[in-house]
Amino acid sequence: MPQKLYEGKAKILYTTDNPEVLLTHFKDDATAFNAQKKGQITRKGEINCAIASQLFKYLENQGISTHFIAQTAPDQMQVAAVKIIPLEVVVRNIAAGSFVKRTGIATGTTLKSAIVEFFYKNDDLGDPLFTEDHIQLLELATPDQVIELRQMALTINQHLQKFFSDRHLTLVDFKLEFGCDQSGNILLADEISPDTCRLWDDLTADPTQKILDKDRFRQDLGNVAAAYEEVLARVMSQN
Ligand code: TMP
Ligand code: ASP
Repeated sequence: MPQKLYEGKAKILYTTDNPEVLLTHFKDDATAFNAQKKGQITRKGEINCAIASQLFKYLENQGISTHFIAQTAPDQMQVAAVKIIPLEVVVRNIAAGSFVKRTGIATGTTLKSAIVEFFYKNDDLGDPLFTEDHIQLLELATPDQVIELRQMALTINQHLQKFFSDRHLTLVDFKLEFGCDQSGNILLADEISPDTCRLWDDLTADPTQKILDKDRFRQDLGNVAAAYEEVLARVMSQN
């Protein structure tokens, strides 16, 4: 019988009969600002599960190792059991969000080249930005693992930028999480979805209408579910 292993803000992890396999259930619940803002987005669980499944399959085809095994229900995914590295690895192509607050660079500014940031996954501390020295001090990952995470994140960025631009979406920034399997291999884990990416619609110039991701929920822009449905339709299209 599956046992609940862990419940997060957007997903629940269950064990299976096979210790190397877990089940991820995607919830409709949405939170922002470290869960100070809470709500629900209609069909989000199914939408994010379908988008993440499609993106994991695409990335696997491009040679990226992920935890994805199969989508087993509209809101359920079978994944490899990994030990999550407690870092949120953020890749940015265009200035937005916390990067704008930290640097003063205007929202929408295209960065000369993609940058990678590491945040410590710790709700009590509010997921602070970490330098490599912080990572070493807290032994969150080895120096070699940090190099590998950075390289994997930048390679994934190249593949995702192409995938989304073929579907008239600009990948502004996104957050990845990685885990280690039994043999110590690093696998891309968690999810990739409008909860974890900023995606702007290339088909409109209107700065508010362009936003097709969780910023609509964070900023109370309305039409949140419709934006997620639009991303799903584009992700599933053969372009
Ligand atoms: P930020 O600009 O707020 O640092 O967010 C950068 C990217 O990371 C953005 O695409 C949203 C995503 N993100 C998450 O997936 N989870 C989080 O908890 C936060 C704060 C951001
Ligand atoms: N997922 C984060 C939270 O609730 C924040 C965010 O995505 O903005 O708390």
